Amino acid sequence: MLLTWKRLLLLASIFFSLETGALSLTTSSPHLLTLSAIISDAEGHAQIQCLQFLHPFNTYPTVGSVLHLANVTNVTYVVLPPHSKEGLHKPPHVMFFILLSGLAHVTLPTENPHDGQELWITPDGNGLIVAADVEGVGHFTEYPGEGESVALQVPFMDGKLPEHRVLNQGACGMEELVEQLEM
Ligand SMILES: *[C@@H]1O[C@H](CO)[C@@H](O)[C@H](O)[C@H]1NC(C)=O
Ligand SMILES: *[C@@H]1O[C@H](CO)[C@@H](O)[C@H](O)[C@H]1NC(C)=O
Repeated sequence: MLLTWKRLLLLASIFFSLETGALSLTTSSPHLLTLSAIISDAEGHAQIQCLQFLHPFNTYPTVGSVLHLANVTNVTYVVLPPHSKEGLHKPPHVMFFILLSGLAHVTLPTENPHDGQELWITPDGNGLIVAADVEGVGHFTEYPGEGESVALQVPFMDGKLPEHRVLNQGACGMEELVEQLEM
């Protein structure tokens, strides 16, 4: 009799810890989207930051997860030649920049206090970034790849970034990228 009760208690506690374990997996850490952004600081200098969007992912009706990112407008398809440079420029809008193929490298002008920050963009891993340095003189972008680079410019309809927090100065590191890939 005593044994049976002990076993029952043991079973109950195992069941309970499994239950709470499962619960904490689904409720405590929703996936959040992390991506690098080029943003004007208060003085209008471009800076590179790693952002985390605050809206969580939901379950996609078939498989995986889904995030309603933003309402957008005027999507533009851009083809950039191999080994080309855009020079110093500002994005035409606060927008997503989505690299579909090729390679892009963003740097800042030497007179910019954030000079030294850089951002390498590749289609697999961090192909989605935000370009929002619409104040000041902007940034340099070059396309050092052997082939053409193809990108989409996707402006936000209201000209503003979705709700976000800054994770760190400079581009997102490998940890954030891995998190993003595993999603
Ligand atoms: C997009 O616009 C619709 C209609 O105005 C709005 O309900 C929705 O919240 C917007 N979605 C996002 C992600 O901003
Ligand atoms: C779309 O954006 C481009 C620049 O990226 C601009 O030249 C063009 O006028 C815009 N078109 C509309 C319909 O807003």
